[in-house]
Amino acid sequence: MEILRTVNLTKNYKDGNGIKTVLHDINISINRGEFIGILGPSGSGKSTLLNLIGGLDKPSKGEVYMENERTDNLNQSKLAIYRRRRIGIVYQFYNLMSNLTVEQNILLPLLMDDKEPDIELYGKIMDIIDLKERLNSFPEELSGGEQQRVAIARALINKPSIVLLDEPTGNLDRENRNKIFELLKYSNVAFNQTMLIVSHDEEIVNKTDRMIQIEDGSIIRDVSLR
Ligand SMILES: Nc1ncnc2c1ncn2[C@@H]1O[C@H](COP(=O)(O)OP(=O)(O)OP(=O)(O)O)[C@@H](O)[C@H]1O
Ligand SMILES: [Mg+2]
Repeated sequence: MEILRTVNLTKNYKDGNGIKTVLHDINISINRGEFIGILGPSGSGKSTLLNLIGGLDKPSKGEVYMENERTDNLNQSKLAIYRRRRIGIVYQFYNLMSNLTVEQNILLPLLMDDKEPDIELYGKIMDIIDLKERLNSFPEELSGGEQQRVAIARALINKPSIVLLDEPTGNLDRENRNKIFELLKYSNVAFNQTMLIVSHDEEIVNKTDRMIQIEDGSIIRDVSLR
């Protein structure tokens, strides 16, 4: 069943030299439960694509549909709710709240809706991210890899239907990278979640179900790996 569709999704930026198109007419259809790797050189438009899908940015042209409902033209307050309840996002540069502790950051999407965490999932996430001793620390007291693990925990805690991850293992050593991948796979299977993961790491991409390759703002390859 289709969960996400983009129609002629296009993004232009203005710079000193005029208008630059960084995404050209992207048409993708993604099913519930798919685990997708997005590959492409630096500057090819990967983060821009995730930002448009996640409603963090508006397209210059084209549309985004989530479960057949158009999301790119929602107003700010509807967009905030859409993001918080249905999408988990791991930003390339983490975006943790500096005035909240590790634990508060992780629970934030639930706290904002006055909800309690799923205890089993919370325990599993905590075991894997291995930051139990740091729950009362603030983000600036953590290493890059530790912050990355907090961002991943925050994106999963809410059991969103779709999780967007921008280089989620870029700052992790091999052991942590493998553990995080296992956590993503668990969450993907247990909750039939759709995962979209931007990565330069071939080992990660090779373990996904489908690979979408982007170059110069266009999809140049879209293949099933299963
Ligand atoms: N706010 C902006 N204003 C102007 N140009 C932008 C803006 N944001 C991104 N770009 C340009 O859009 C292009 C795509 O950027 P994007 O961040 O999507 O690339 P990326 O594939 O995620 O790269 P990386 O692998 O380095 O993270 C780049 O050329 C970038 O310079
Ligand atoms: Mg990027």
